[in-house]
Amino acid sequence: MKEKIYLYPVWVRVWHWLNALLFLLLVATGLSMQYASQGSHLIPFKFSVTVHNISGIILIVNFLFFAFANSFTWNGKYYKIPRKGYAKMLWKQILYYSWGIFKKEAKPFPITQERKFNPLQQFSYIIAMYILIPLIIISGVGLLFPEITLTVLFGKSGIWLTDLFHQFLGFFLTIFWLIHLYFCTIGKTATSNFKSMVDGWH
Ligand code: HEM
Repeated sequence: MKEKIYLYPVWVRVWHWLNALLFLLLVATGLSMQYASQGSHLIPFKFSVTVHNISGIILIVNFLFFAFANSFTWNGKYYKIPRKGYAKMLWKQILYYSWGIFKKEAKPFPITQERKFNPLQQFSYIIAMYILIPLIIISGVGLLFPEITLTVLFGKSGIWLTDLFHQFLGFFLTIFWLIHLYFCTIGKTATSNFKSMVDGWH
């Protein structure tokens, strides 16, 4: 049996599961609001707005906690891109996922205490957590407080553009989430990564 490593401290797990729950609430209420004008809708419109706003605010606090904790703890090191050879590492991982994995080749970047994520996983987490989430938060705040949003931009309504951008980001984060779920099933067993995020041990 391989050695067990403790990779997910309590704060990462609490942050992650709260983030996942809020994400699901935001997607469900966001979709409900988007299609509310088409007559019957599953969740009442006003209820969706309230749940969406409250979940969004808790998500902001949770995100700030994540960013703060990552900059002061060991976990943040897993999000640092190596200065040299990163493109080659990404390519190696892509080749492994598209070919090597089916031939049962050894993982090019096995998990260790120093390297929790493979390069592709690291790249997707950086994009989601440090680009898409901050942008969806900023655009969400712009929609929550329309008085701080530009009235007109390139001849179009600022609120309309902010809303479009917010939905666009929501779409890409949902795509990230679906891919994330799929890749989480490619562990030692289909459920081992989920167990790790529950008890902290890989
Ligand atoms: C039902 C929803 C979700 C499930 C079941 C889930 C599952 C998991 C699992 C099993 C891991 C550990 C395996 C790994 O290291 O990749 C993980 C890690 C992670 N997930 Fe999720 N996830 C969910 C939603 C999300 C969402 C919505 C986001 C962000 C928008 C997210 C971002 C992350 C990040 C950044 C990590 C690495 C955390 C760290 O160790 O620093 N997850 N997730």
